[in-house]
Amino acid sequence: MVYIITMEKIFTGKNALVIGGTGGIGRAVAQGLAVRGARLVLHGGSSRERLDGALELIRAAGGAAEGFLYPADGAGPGAAAAAILTQARDLCGGASPQILICAWGPFKQGSLEDMGPEDWQRLVENNLIFPGIMVSSLLGDMMKRRWGRILLFGGTNTDTIRGFRTTAVYSAAKTALGALAKSVARSAGPLGVTCNVICPGLTDTEYTGDALGAYNLERSPGGEVLKPEDIAKIALGILENPQVNGGIIPVDRGLVL
Ligand SMILES: NC(=O)c1ccc[n+]([C@@H]2O[C@H](COP(=O)([O-])OP(=O)(O)OC[C@H]3O[C@@H](n4cnc5c(N)ncnc54)[C@H](OP(=O)(O)O)[C@@H]3O)[C@@H](O)[C@H]2O)c1
Repeated sequence: MVYIITMEKIFTGKNALVIGGTGGIGRAVAQGLAVRGARLVLHGGSSRERLDGALELIRAAGGAAEGFLYPADGAGPGAAAAAILTQARDLCGGASPQILICAWGPFKQGSLEDMGPEDWQRLVENNLIFPGIMVSSLLGDMMKRRWGRILLFGGTNTDTIRGFRTTAVYSAAKTALGALAKSVARSAGPLGVTCNVICPGLTDTEYTGDALGAYNLERSPGGEVLKPEDIAKIALGILENPQVNGGIIPVDRGLVL
């Protein structure tokens, strides 16, 4: 028997905002959404080259994409979210995006006793408060339209409450995203909105330096480090299936740090 696989354009007519969509895992998810018909608004931090490269990739494959840069850790999470949403709505003809992917999530290693107030503020603001404000800002419109997709990114092994020796602050913020996703699923699931969290394993991206690359290789099951496309494949399956809602899904090949 011959199976013919077609890539259905199931997100045709939908606008997707990808926070951190110009590189790494966010860019891979954005590409997959574009192939499935969504119009992309890519948000990036500071690299014009990466933004242009990501837009070019999508457009070369026949997709529709616009984008802008806005370093979200300068003005505070409320002001950053408001500025990003204003630009995103402008690029969507005044409407709110129906798909929200919050990929950007800064990371810092260090023992808990070495984490100062600035580390706490930066890691919790950018990994929990900022995505939380983005979700609150778009959820009402999604509920009114009775359709919405939200995907958040946790950390490695933050799919349940665990202790961490070197990433306690980052991981605490990432673990809390699960409660956010389950709350959205509970209140807005009946209105056609899904919200899930993917917890990637160690994934090599263009941001991985030599030291982290060596650590990733040593720790990854079977010595095989994940690629952004491995994570994106699962992300797209989740976004395509409204049956998956409030999920906290490890994509880590069984890794325990
Ligand atoms: N990679 C891993 O091993 C791993 C493992 C577990 C969890 N995760 C989580 O998965 C998600 C994606 O991670 P990732 O490794 O692909 O990389 P990432 O560094 O979290 O995201 C890269 C994206 O964020 C943008 N960005 C960088 N600085 C920014 C800033 N100050 N303000 C706004 N945007 C900024 C980048 O734009 P520019 O290119 O312009 O800087 C790029 O578009 C994160 O939430 C991360 O915590 C990753």
